[in-house]
Amino acid sequence: MNSDSHNAPRGAAPIVGVDPASLDRAAAILRAGGLVAVPTETVYGLAADATNGAAVAAIYTAKGRPSFNPLISHVASLAMAEELAHFSPLARRLAEHFWPGPLTLVLPRKTKCPVSDLATAGLPSIGVRVPQHIATLEIIRRVGRPLAAPSANPSEALSPTTAAHVASGLGPRIDLIVDGGACSAGVESTIIAVGETGAVLLRPGAIARADIELFTGPLASPDASDGVVAPGMMKRHYAPRARLRLDAMNASDGEAFLAFGAPPPGVLPSLNLSIRGDLAEAASNLFAMLRTLDVSHDAIAVQTIPESGLGEAINDRLRRGTLLSRESGV
Ligand code: TXA
Ligand code: MG
Repeated sequence: MNSDSHNAPRGAAPIVGVDPASLDRAAAILRAGGLVAVPTETVYGLAADATNGAAVAAIYTAKGRPSFNPLISHVASLAMAEELAHFSPLARRLAEHFWPGPLTLVLPRKTKCPVSDLATAGLPSIGVRVPQHIATLEIIRRVGRPLAAPSANPSEALSPTTAAHVASGLGPRIDLIVDGGACSAGVESTIIAVGETGAVLLRPGAIARADIELFTGPLASPDASDGVVAPGMMKRHYAPRARLRLDAMNASDGEAFLAFGAPPPGVLPSLNLSIRGDLAEAASNLFAMLRTLDVSHDAIAVQTIPESGLGEAINDRLRRGTLLSRESGV
């Protein structure tokens, strides 16, 4: 299905815009079981029809992702999500407040849920979210089915925040890339499991913990609660090729220095996540700047980033990026 591009190299997926004809084309490929990279407000997703087991299997193959790591089902509305999962009153309140937006809810899967077991890795639960990017909402509406979509990068690598990032990581392995511009949030959705005993933070993300705790009260961590399967079983994740060193106050020879806010005295930053020390700006720059420095350096020193607000998600990604492959457990 990836043969009709004019300017992409042979075999690489064509990159199209968000005009109605391109959205129709994306939807037709998805309905036929193909793979399409789509923009969201967090990172680009690699989408397939979640109800088509063969299409979902192709996502795992294209990413090199272990099939025990479940995928999020993306839907266009709360009503569409309710066909897949049981919503407790708390889950419904969260959905009504944060959707469309970067919140994924892990909820009990309905028995008549049409999503392929492969997409949920055989779990009794399902991750669902309504993304905010208008082009992807339009594609989901045109397909009329939930779309399974992990981040559109090879497993363990940095998540893509532009269409060009997707093309460089997965270009020849997928059918189409829809270019909806650079992602505004730049880190993945916050994942909350809502069960009978309350809410658990499975992954810090683009919505800060404190904003969710206004609805849920203090969020438990996965280790502290029984019976919840934590996501991202691979600890190494979001990793550049270069070695990462965190909480750095200087750069040694050959190291790039990735600053946040005012750099330490005498240090000339290679790049700055946010000169004015703004965590949302830093989150939106994180993956793209790591990619840039990864090309030019074998080691990257990163200045301390506070753990407050979106800093929790940024530090989570950076810490996982420091782990060696052999610690990944896969
Ligand atoms: O922002 C995002 O969430 C992006 C965009 C594309 O929507 N997607 C994304 O997908 O980050 P992925 O596959 O890279 O990460 C999804 C995480 C995985 O760590 C997976 O383990 C977890 O969600 N997950 C999905 N379904 C789950 C379930 N039923 N129970 C526990 N964890 C689940
Ligand atoms: Mg991912």
